[in-house]
Amino acid sequence: MKSLAIIGAQWGDEGKGKITDLLGAKCDYVVRYQGGNNAGHTIIVDGKKTVLHLIPSGILHDSCVSVIAHGLVFDPEAFKKEFEEVSAVVSITPEKLKISSNCSVITSYNKILDAARETKGPVKIGTTGKGIGPAYEDKISRKGIKVKDLFDLEGLRNKLEANLIEKKVLFESLYTAEFPSVEDEANRLFELGKLIKPFACDTFMLLDHAFSSGKKVLFEGAQGILLDIDYGSYPFVTSSNTSLGGIYTGAGVPGTNVEEVLGIAKVYTTRVGEGPFPTELSCEMGQKIQEKGHEFGATTGRTRRCGWIDLPLLKYTVKASNLTSIALTKVDVLSGLGTLKVCTSYDYEGKNLTCSSPELDLSKVTPVFEELPPFSDELTAESDMSNISQELKDYIKRIEDFIEVPVGLISFGPDRNQIKFIKNYF
Ligand code: GDP
Ligand code: IMO
Ligand code: MG
Repeated sequence: MKSLAIIGAQWGDEGKGKITDLLGAKCDYVVRYQGGNNAGHTIIVDGKKTVLHLIPSGILHDSCVSVIAHGLVFDPEAFKKEFEEVSAVVSITPEKLKISSNCSVITSYNKILDAARETKGPVKIGTTGKGIGPAYEDKISRKGIKVKDLFDLEGLRNKLEANLIEKKVLFESLYTAEFPSVEDEANRLFELGKLIKPFACDTFMLLDHAFSSGKKVLFEGAQGILLDIDYGSYPFVTSSNTSLGGIYTGAGVPGTNVEEVLGIAKVYTTRVGEGPFPTELSCEMGQKIQEKGHEFGATTGRTRRCGWIDLPLLKYTVKASNLTSIALTKVDVLSGLGTLKVCTSYDYEGKNLTCSSPELDLSKVTPVFEELPPFSDELTAESDMSNISQELKDYIKRIEDFIEVPVGLISFGPDRNQIKFIKNYF
């Protein structure tokens, strides 16, 4: 296998960082292609935790090149902070990390606008407050700042001047928000650009060459398919294509055949921020899962809402990204919790639906649950898939049968070695 994508199959935080780190060890390139530092990808090695937001989760391996492709929105200040933190763990050289010169930059104006809308705007999305949506707006409306603009102070000033014209009106009249002058913002970004310059390159040509020379490439998705701007529960979504399609435009590999699309899904469901959540548990069980699973956001520290696994949604995300297998994570959290429920259909306007769709208003569906016998396996790195309990086997089989793709691995703890592969990747 030469190319594999890792994509969140729910509302994010499924454990993508852990699996990317593991499979990244076998790859030549690990590529982020969308989103920004709204992501929080956790890797734990021998109890030592690293949380990555912008830097790809292949960075812990010296043999692997980490690529931030042009589809991301890139906050230079957040990068500096993360660069310093991660450099304390592993050396980051320009040979190991490549940043697209064509990547869109998140400015102070984007962050101020994100925060103002969340506190004073008509609809609260519950964003991460990192300026993601406004930076993508700038890109799409063709007034964005690119990484390459950070290296020319005069040009940067001119672009920021044009960029601020409309926002100034919003800041002054609608949101009464403080904002830095063009001069200050240009100087700040130019200074940060000095750190970034050695890493900046043409990642399109880099990946084109990687594919033509037969290198192994792993695409690391951020967020999850249910947060996709087109496939997600709009408007409670992020502002990028988190699904498979995002790779082709965001990494710039249009003709590439992504051979394996590995969807990552928890054995239950979580969501951070606002928006409908059919299987949400607003009861003691929800709290139990939240506590046992340490369900706090890796980026904002917010409590994650918890609920049972939602198979109509999972079946839909399989279709929306052509998932070829699934990684089931956090099996340990459901172990020993008593009788388990899985949502197998929705009642909606007199119909019974077994698969969600982008058209469906999730706030209006009533989930129908099936009860499954509890399992209480205590898996270790030494455990063999052949001696897991029949109940856990049945739980996995029920999911596989429903979504019609195989479960390729199960994860039963946060550490790198708490995993069992059923399928061989790379
Ligand atoms: P990502 O955004 O998809 O990379 O996921 P996050 O890092 O935001 O959240 C996943 C959390 O679950 C992190 O704290 C991981 O360390 C942890 N984790 C990953 N896999 C497992 C697992 O199988 N069991 C448990 N208990 N924790 C896990
Ligand atoms: P990872 O990669 C979970 C959510 C926010 C909010 C919505 C829009 O760690 O899985 P944004 O700041 O992107 O405009 O917020 O998307 N969100 C995430 N939820 N995991 C993430 O990333 C997320 N990134 C954004 O909570 O509901
Ligand atoms: Mg996360």
